[in-house]
Amino acid sequence: MKEIRRGELFDFHGVSMINIFTDNWENVQNFQARPDDILIATYPKAGTTWVSYILDLLHFCQRSPERQTSIPIYERVPFLEMTIPHLDSGVDLVNNLPTSPRLIKTHLPIQLVPKSFWEQNCRVVYVARNAKDNVVSYFHFDQMAQFEPEPGDWSSYLHRFMEGKMVFGSWYDHVNGWWKKKQTYSKIHYMFFEDMVEDSGREIDKLCSFLGLSPSAEEKERVTTGSKFDNMKQNKMTNYSTVEVMNHTVSPFMRKGNVGDWKNHFTVAQNEAFDEDYKHKMKNPTLQFRTEL
Ligand code: PPS
Repeated sequence: MKEIRRGELFDFHGVSMINIFTDNWENVQNFQARPDDILIATYPKAGTTWVSYILDLLHFCQRSPERQTSIPIYERVPFLEMTIPHLDSGVDLVNNLPTSPRLIKTHLPIQLVPKSFWEQNCRVVYVARNAKDNVVSYFHFDQMAQFEPEPGDWSSYLHRFMEGKMVFGSWYDHVNGWWKKKQTYSKIHYMFFEDMVEDSGREIDKLCSFLGLSPSAEEKERVTTGSKFDNMKQNKMTNYSTVEVMNHTVSPFMRKGNVGDWKNHFTVAQNEAFDEDYKHKMKNPTLQFRTEL
């Protein structure tokens, strides 16, 4: 395990951030997308790795099977805005990708996404997760990922989440901002973590039709099975066990992968206050989340 200093939140164009996601900003903003790039965009802990892996399997499982056992998912699908001293930045990793299409991960809120993705009319897969499970997952992640700000106790963490004082800002603004973009930009596939848990086969079919892919039944089976929670948890190339700044004994990256774990964390009073606040922030009736299945 490597010990590093935890990040400190600061305001970045109106969004709370830590410096490992802003230090390379000029290169991020000037990033040159290609028309066949696929951007996987999420608020942190909404199912990024799951969908990244599915997309990687769909595109490359047949063409280069060796990739599955030799390259960790965070190198196959680089994190665009990440930059850690002495390591390749996300931008460099993307620019060095030999694959086509390139699969690119971002947690940026809509207003900070490099404009080249829109100019090139790239496909975007956005994954959203209900706020209650999202904040629980983020809380555990912030304990194990040592570059994240000190999470503190659950009650103060939940409060901070409601205020949008998290790395990558407000969950409410994030999911709403991307939802709004979908109304004017047709190449966004907006999907929900809960739908994936309910029926990943159905959601993979929808992804394939958005991406213009038609896998054989056997290929699809391989993708569906390979991306099951237990299989990804065992798989060193997808479970982040190779990342030195994550302490999996505190909490594994592949933690529970379910819907409704929030019930084990929220008190009745916290849940009531959260629901009341939620009503004020989530006014768009067309964007609905499920907090249980
Ligand atoms: S990150 O750090 O933002 O990229 O994290 P992200 O991958 O978005 O989210 C991690 C959560 O997704 C869960 N996960 C899965 N759930 C079900 N099935 C599969 N295959 C799967 N893969 C990842 C992971 O367990 C984290 O959720 P929690 O609730 O913490 O378990």
